[in-house]
Amino acid sequence: MHALLTDILRQVRPLIGQGQVAQYIPALARVVPDQLGIAVYGVDGQVYSAGDAHTPFSIQSISKVFSLVQAIGHSGEAIWERLGHEPSGQAFNSMVQLEVEKGRPRNPFINAGALVICDINQSRFAAPALSMRDFVRRLAGNAELAADRVVADSEYQFRARNAAMAYLMQAFGNFNNDVDAVLRSYFHHCALAMSCVDVARAFGFLAHRGANPHTGEVVLSARQTQQVNAVMATSGLYDEAGNFAYRVGLPGKSGVGGGILAVVPGRFTVCVWSPELNAAGNSLAGMKALELLSEQIGGSVFSALG
Ligand code: DON
Repeated sequence: MHALLTDILRQVRPLIGQGQVAQYIPALARVVPDQLGIAVYGVDGQVYSAGDAHTPFSIQSISKVFSLVQAIGHSGEAIWERLGHEPSGQAFNSMVQLEVEKGRPRNPFINAGALVICDINQSRFAAPALSMRDFVRRLAGNAELAADRVVADSEYQFRARNAAMAYLMQAFGNFNNDVDAVLRSYFHHCALAMSCVDVARAFGFLAHRGANPHTGEVVLSARQTQQVNAVMATSGLYDEAGNFAYRVGLPGKSGVGGGILAVVPGRFTVCVWSPELNAAGNSLAGMKALELLSEQIGGSVFSALG
């Protein structure tokens, strides 16, 4: 596996230079663009990695999966009274649908949906940022993990669009807590700095019927795990979810920090990171790396249909 990962990085490295590092968060625009890493975490607890797999990066929207898992953990099916699990076909920060659909976000992975999930968690936890940090530390088995304050503050400073969505949902009666407080929690989660190895390990339970392969902790039931994977497969890459299904065929979740998490059910989780993004806001080299990996190992969940 190590040789395969090294070879995949060699093949995708020429793509670096053809994308663009996220510009709309100034602290992210300063990231060195030619970093590239990949880590695989098997359900047997084995880790394989190549490139910059131990370098922390800003997980950004990958954190939306942690928030969803936390919310399902304490509120179960009730969360779906507040939002849907339909693909949006829109950019992650689009507001168009939200007005038309009366403040009910399509899914938990577009920004509006993630904000509703954070609002649900805000009602539940006295200190949502700390609860999240400790949850992620436990899942990843890394007590050092923390949010990058500079990134979180930068996002807060440029919060206008996310704030607008939250206030719109409040106007429709679908937001219960102070908007600023929820935004602070949301940006904290997005600013968590994790390596590919940390991300792959933290989400190991998604490939293992809900149980953390390392500790045995039951994070979600097998049914809930299947449901989270289904939402990732249909909405994890925003308006590029169809392309990701076509090319990679795995449940996945991207972030504008350039990370992408993918799940090969029953086998492993994988995280790839390359900061330059394509027009849809997904890692350009990361998408290609996952396409090559999935093809090499026959990983696509659709392979049973082919
Ligand atoms: O809300 C934002 O704009 C960011 N904190 C997260 C966006 C993100 O990662 C979207 N993913 N591709």
